[in-house]
Amino acid sequence: MKPVEIKKDIFWVGAVDWNSRDFHGYSLSPRGTTYNSFLVLDEKVTLFDTVKSDCFNELLCGIAQACGGEPKVDYMVVNHLEPDHAGCLDEIVARFKPEKIFCSPMGEKALRSFYHNSQDWPVEVVPTGASISIGKRTVQFIETRMLHWPDNMISYIPEDKIAFCSDAFGQNWASTERFADEVDRGMLGRLLAEYYANIVLPYSPMVLKTLDALAGMNLDIDMLCPDHGLIWRGKEDVQYALDSYRAFALQKPTKKAVIAFDTMWHSTEKMARAICDGLVEEGISVRVMSVKHNHHSAVMAELFDAAAFIVGSPTHNNGILPMVADLLTYVKGLRPQNKIGAVFGSFGWSGECVKVLTEHMEAIGVELVDPGVKVKNRPTHDTYAACFEMGKKIGQAINAKIDA
Ligand code: FEO
Repeated sequence: MKPVEIKKDIFWVGAVDWNSRDFHGYSLSPRGTTYNSFLVLDEKVTLFDTVKSDCFNELLCGIAQACGGEPKVDYMVVNHLEPDHAGCLDEIVARFKPEKIFCSPMGEKALRSFYHNSQDWPVEVVPTGASISIGKRTVQFIETRMLHWPDNMISYIPEDKIAFCSDAFGQNWASTERFADEVDRGMLGRLLAEYYANIVLPYSPMVLKTLDALAGMNLDIDMLCPDHGLIWRGKEDVQYALDSYRAFALQKPTKKAVIAFDTMWHSTEKMARAICDGLVEEGISVRVMSVKHNHHSAVMAELFDAAAFIVGSPTHNNGILPMVADLLTYVKGLRPQNKIGAVFGSFGWSGECVKVLTEHMEAIGVELVDPGVKVKNRPTHDTYAACFEMGKKIGQAINAKIDA
């Protein structure tokens, strides 16, 4: 896509990846994504982040068009070293020979280990509080560790009230629009939350600290430019993004439950539906998610604001089905907080499913409000009644917790 002038002499020169579905190797991006790179035309032409290496030609074209023919990069600012943003660093260095490359202290460590040929690169480390002049403008740097790697930082230009915020406040959405105010807000909010749930969630305590630190700095920001997705333009939208992140990081549960399960011969699936009915009876909104039909990142996108996590699997080889184990491993890594839950499953002979699921749930930190339900081979009327009652019990626990 052509570069877009987002402020006077400041251009989006990124790439739209319409076909991206596998995001970072572990989550899905069903609507594609963008890699946002920004070029500021000043006495020192400064590039903020690059794009995934496959998209280098698009970046190059954007830089050339923004520069009006003669492409130039005097300064390179690396807000984040993950390869979807720093993937063209070596190409940029080879082609433009920037006078300086700025990155955070942790960024330098990452840069040296990603680019083994970087010994002679003119790297300058800019910790929080450092600032540089690029001509009429200054750039101030703020480290934002673990949003989403240790190296991330925000670059802020006070003269333009613009902040380039790397992974923070991003969304996976390939679009021809560049600004958040040009797209459907409901969808955008959903994608912002999905991104947070799958990428940023484990670092929620750091998010709260960073938001407090930013508030303490009294930065005057009227444009927030993440490295993925739409740009937040205007004070109201900037505040929307900041407030959304605070709400996400606080992980306040809602009256919602996620029942995730796998099944062999539909016994565990039928149990899931009976548990769902019990929850609904108590006024809880439920998502019933077969792990065969819902990727673990889709389950996580629903789970992160739910009050309850309920997991089912038949017993398989003295354990649980592998796709349920995959989900539980993924969820554990994302460290969701404030969840209650329960487990269930069918079995043929040995019947370890409830025991094994319980161990997983305890490792995640889910507070189990019921010992769980298991059934040999096919559910009976009594099994359905037990599942229904367990759903009701969890629903009552959700209501008690949220209404307290
Ligand atoms: Fe989009 Fe942490 O990279």
